Parts: sequence; C-alpha cells; structure tokens
Amino acid sequence: MRRLLPDPAPVPDDEALVEAYRLPAGRSLRVDFVASLDGSVTVDGRSGGLGSPGDQRVFRALRALADVVLVGHGTAAAEGYRPVAADAAVGRLRTANGRPASAPVAVVSRRASLAPGDRLAVPSTVLVTCAAADAGRRAALEAAGVTVLVCGDDDVDLPAALDALADRGLEQVLCEGGPALLSAALAAGVVDELDLTITPALVGGPDRLLAGALADVVRPRLLQVLEEDGVLFTRYAIDR
Ligand SMILES: NC(=O)c1ccc[n+]([C@@H]2O[C@H](COP(=O)([O-])OP(=O)(O)OC[C@H]3O[C@@H](n4cnc5c(N)ncnc54)[C@H](OP(=O)(O)O)[C@@H]3O)[C@@H](O)[C@H]2O)c1
Repeated sequence: MRRLLPDPAPVPDDEALVEAYRLPAGRSLRVDFVASLDGSVTVDGRSGGLGSPGDQRVFRALRALADVVLVGHGTAAAEGYRPVAADAAVGRLRTANGRPASAPVAVVSRRASLAPGDRLAVPSTVLVTCAAADAGRRAALEAAGVTVLVCGDDDVDLPAALDALADRGLEQVLCEGGPALLSAALAAGVVDELDLTITPALVGGPDRLLAGALADVVRPRLLQVLEEDGVLFTRYAIDR
C-alpha cells in the first residue's frame, strides 16, 4: 500500500497503516464504508463483494484504534456481526497499541431488535435504543448482560447516545454503517470523519452509501488518500 496524498510515501505494514488513521485523543465519530465507483455499498446484499485485502487491513486498523464499534441493527444482521474477537488480528493490533484486546460493539436499534440468544446478546455488547422500544425486550437483553442505553423517546437521539458512550469512557467511536445510520448521523451533525474505501467496480442497485436525500448537502474535506491494487482508501473530515 502507498500514500498518494497529502505526500507520497509507502505504507509498508499494519503499524504504518494504524499511524495513517490515528486520531488525536478526545471524542470523535468516524465512519468506515466501502463503496463501488457508482456509490453502491453491497453486492447481493452484503459488503463482502466490494472488499479487498487492503480494505480488510484498513478495517482492522480502524477497529484497532476504536474505543467502541457502532453499527445499525440492519448491518449487524446482514453482515452477521459478532463481538470483536480479542484473540484475532485486530486484538493483537489493539494490544500492540496499548488498548484492551477487544472493543465493545454498540448496536443502534430503535426497536431494540437484538434478541436474547443472538450472537451479539452478550455482556460486552451495548444496545442503543429509545424509550419507545418494547420494555420486555429491553429487560430480557439486560438480563442477558447487555448494556441497554435508552437515548431519546420515540427515536434514538444520536448526540445523547454519543454522550452516554463517552460517559462510559468510549470516546473514539468507529461507526461501520449502515446507510440508515450514516444518514441519521449526518443529519444529526455528529460525524467527524468519513473513511471511504472506493473499489473499482460498477454495481448499480438500490443499496447506496446514504439511505435517502439529506436536508443539506454535506461537503467533506479530503485529508488523505492511500492506494493498493487500484483501490483508493480515502479519509475525509466533516467540519461540524
Ligand atoms: N459497504 C459497506 O461498507 C457497508 C457498511 C454497512 C452496511 N452495509 C450494507 O448496508 C445494508 C444495511 O443497510 P441499512 O441502512 O438497513 O443499515 P443500518 O443503518 O445498519 O440498519 C438500519 C436499522 O438499524 C437501526 N437504526 C439505524 N439507524 C438508526 C437510528 N438513527 N435510530 C434508530 N435506529 C436506527 C434500525 O433498526 P431497528 O429496525 O431494529 O429499529 C434500522 O432499521 C446491508 O446490506 C449491509 O451489508 C454496507
């Protein structure tokens, strides 16, 4: 892998990749996506068809730098999310960087859709939901050890959710999608960075980076471009 911008340089290994994505201390919400040239985020309903070895390495580097992985329930279900494994490559990269080997996964779900027995219904998981979610379902998840954060009345209040995560020491938030959650986070003005992998593929289809039109156009500012095998790994800042 090599850096094209801001100044050309090799990115020889995973440690260099972690450095390329490191953030200053303090609160942040960065969003990681892979998309085709035409803005599609799935092939046959999942992101895997857009992936590459470089994208896997960036995915791991971003997880290595995160206090918590935030994901919409639609993505957690479609992609078969599990807790972040402490003994895998991400865990090794995390401990090499002085972080706990695993990071909690925080699932955003208005309806508290996670069910006891799901792979993510374990004590390391955080469920971010709202008061309108079924109280029995919330109680069952709490009984399974899941931390349930009720943020908002009829819908999830994302700024309140990020405050609640920060109160638990989870300040550097990596959001892995999906489009509905990204759209809501942009509308709420809480996104600091978009890390978009652009895969040279044309896909078409309905699954786009955003779930619908935004009320206001957001104009991210380019910070960095890496490249490997024709795949571009971009970092954009989003000024609040
Ligand atoms: N290419 C990529 O990098 C990438 C990344 C992520 C996802 N994807 C793909 O995107 C697809 C999923 O899209 P999606 O838009 O359905 O994903 P999503 O945003 O992960 O999931 C939508 C669901 O998550 C919950 N949710 C999201 N935002 C919320 C909010 N602001 N407040 C309350 N609840 C919220 C709701 O769950 P409840 O219905 O339970 O309330 C909602 O139905 C999958 O095919 C996945 O593979 C691709």
